[in-house]
Amino acid sequence: MSRKFLIAIAVLVAAMFIGASLMAADPEKPAKPAAKPDTTATKAAVKFEYIGKDKCKLCHMKDEYGSWLTTAHAKAWEALKPEEQKKDSCTVCHSTGKDAAGTLLTGVQCEACHGPGSAYRTQANMKNKKLALGAGMTEPTKEICVKCHNDKSPNFKGFDFDKYSKDPKGMHKLFPKKTETKG
Ligand code: HEC
Ligand code: HEC
Ligand code: HEC
Ligand code: HEC
Repeated sequence: MSRKFLIAIAVLVAAMFIGASLMAADPEKPAKPAAKPDTTATKAAVKFEYIGKDKCKLCHMKDEYGSWLTTAHAKAWEALKPEEQKKDSCTVCHSTGKDAAGTLLTGVQCEACHGPGSAYRTQANMKNKKLALGAGMTEPTKEICVKCHNDKSPNFKGFDFDKYSKDPKGMHKLFPKKTETKG
């Protein structure tokens, strides 16, 4: 009777040991197949760069570019005094960012609202919104505007997206899609 009991205990302990080692092995599993290529890292490595308004002008000169020139955004750099143009605390919102060569793109240019254009700039991407969005284009939503239109601005006048996005002092005119009218 006591021998049987001992055997039963031994079997139970063995079962527990095997079970525990199986469970212990489990959390290690995801770490092991390190040889597999990490596609998420590859995707994140694709960096979209700013290319500057002159590149956008090549194809948008007659419409959005010409209209943008008349807005406060086009003149936002000139609103700063020379000494203020050297202060990051001012340039952060009065410029667009740096291009791949490290040149600061002054003023609130196209890409401040539409996203860095190094990849979406091609005719094929531009004519297909889905492709353009996949290649770095952003929707010019309220979230984009309030990166600059917020109370960190020393001249903040408040921000109402519905009003501001229709105000010709800041917004270029909208033009009907050429690709649709051409047919
Ligand atoms: C957080 C973003 C941001 C920062 C930082 C910022 N500005 Fe501006 N600035 C704006 C916005 C947005 C406007 C447009 C005003 C509005 O409608 O709120 C503006 C407008 C201006 C104007 C136009 C005058 C006016 O009253 O509209 C001047 C001049 C100016 N800023 C100077 C500066 C200086 C100088 C600094 C640095 C000390 C600075 N800004 C920092 C966002 C910013
Ligand atoms: C202050 C932000 C802002 C800047 C700067 C800006 N845009 Fe826009 N753009 C918008 C908004 C908002 C729309 C309307 C989007 C919508 O209705 O979905 C738009 C629409 C467009 C469209 C769609 C066609 C149309 O006219 O409706 C094109 C093309 C365009 N912009 C090109 C440009 C170019 C080129 C520049 C630079 C010369 C520029 N944008 C600068 C905000 C901006
Ligand atoms: C990169 C920063 C930045 C972004 C993004 C931005 N703005 Fe501005 N905006 C400015 C600055 C700076 C001025 C002031 C320029 C000046 O007066 O010289 C301004 C001025 C304006 C003005 C004119 C205000 C006035 O009373 O003179 C309007 C309207 C405006 N922005 C609308 C928008 C809208 C709508 C969006 C988003 C679709 C947007 N802005 C995105 C920085 C920005
Ligand atoms: C090689 C020519 C070319 C260049 C360069 C170019 N675009 Fe375009 N873009 C187009 C064409 C063509 C369309 C489609 C226009 C249409 O259907 O009316 C377009 C459409 C757009 C649209 C509307 C997309 C949509 O479907 O809502 C935006 C926004 C835009 N361009 C912004 C820009 C910006 C910002 C730049 C510079 C970074 C730029 N484009 C550079 C040719 C170009």
